[in-house]
Amino acid sequence: MAQINFHLECIDCGAHYSPDHVIYTCNRCGGLLSVEYDLSEIPENLDLLWKKRELNVWRYGELLPIKSEDIKISLGEGGTSLNRCVRLSRDLGLRNLFVKNEGENPTGSFKDRGMTVGVTKALEIGMRKVACASTGNTSASLAAYAARAGIECIVLIPSGKVAFGKLTQAIIHGAKVIQIMGNFDEALKIVRRICLSHPIYLLNSLNPFRLEGQKTTAFEIRDQLGGEAPDKIVVPVGNAGNISAIWKGFVELHKLGLIENTPQMIGVQAEGAAPIANSLEKGLCEIQFVDNPETVATAIRIGSPVNWKKAIRAVKESNGLVEKVSDEEILEAQRILARMEGLFVEPASAASIAGLIKIAKRGLIEKDETVICILTGHGLKDPNIILRRFPRPIEVEATEEAVINVIMPKKETIKTSAF
Ligand code: F0G
Repeated sequence: MAQINFHLECIDCGAHYSPDHVIYTCNRCGGLLSVEYDLSEIPENLDLLWKKRELNVWRYGELLPIKSEDIKISLGEGGTSLNRCVRLSRDLGLRNLFVKNEGENPTGSFKDRGMTVGVTKALEIGMRKVACASTGNTSASLAAYAARAGIECIVLIPSGKVAFGKLTQAIIHGAKVIQIMGNFDEALKIVRRICLSHPIYLLNSLNPFRLEGQKTTAFEIRDQLGGEAPDKIVVPVGNAGNISAIWKGFVELHKLGLIENTPQMIGVQAEGAAPIANSLEKGLCEIQFVDNPETVATAIRIGSPVNWKKAIRAVKESNGLVEKVSDEEILEAQRILARMEGLFVEPASAASIAGLIKIAKRGLIEKDETVICILTGHGLKDPNIILRRFPRPIEVEATEEAVINVIMPKKETIKTSAF
């Protein structure tokens, strides 16, 4: 595979850095970093090359910041289904509604796209310890990829606020799991400082290499739609890495002439953890963080999203918006998606559907527009929420009669037994 030159670039002051240095933010101004490629080196037949490979993250190797795929750490990430919604579309009066089911990834969330690249990068630059702060999915994913690579993994999580399934994943993969008596934002502050002063590689979405893996969501969507971009992408927002990464993917496709138009990026935050939505609503230029974020969607229970600047740029440049949804709307969207489309997602994931329903009802979507909601994580990650919300299944004696009494109304039972 042809290797394209790339470097790190500050999104604020434009300073350049070598991709071989361990650096997470700009040394000059503290700005976020982005991986930039020398697009003039891209082979002309890129699309043909991609088409010959399987649909997954590594199909797009020319636009990934890895020098050699020989040490690639992969569990088969990406290549997730793009499902056309049938019953939900009808209900909302939309003709081209799809969901990209990221719960199909190896550890059950979109984070695997980033971790396959991030952990490969860690090995490439000689790091043998990786760490992250997490609301759950990042820790589950990093723990799995670190196990696959045979390196040490440390994860900091907010005590009591990580869904059961995610916690069990981090534990079984052998990560050193540290619960802090604080929230995600505090955990991230601590792990950032530790990684700066110790030989431990930080793999939160502040790490620009990780986001490169996540941008492949955009590349796959374009390929799955037959070479076109959709009109709208709806994505749940927490630390704001994913919305920024997906937008970057579409921008690169556009620069390469592989799509005609870029989509509108629509972020969705939970009402109790909506710093970006609130700040945009107030017309602020800077973000106002939320001190004590709270939501049932624990994955996006974040008050100080580190990638806020990239996310706001993505929304503004794409002429998009950020919507807020209540916990009730999130849980109702989770139920609707499971009942109408057969897809079980965790609450944070359902936030994109809740946001979609809200903006569709406000008349912000034309009926022929192609809309894609990103379903970020599998429902089995957080089973407790379901058991708390829905009645326990009925229990009966172990007889045919007892079962028939439950499944057939009384009158019908009598008629049938008369035959
Ligand atoms: N959906 C799910 C299921 C998530 O786990 C996350 C983030 C998001 C959406 C939001 O993505 O942060 O890129 O805006 N989870 C992180 C974690 C924070 O630690 O697992 P984002």
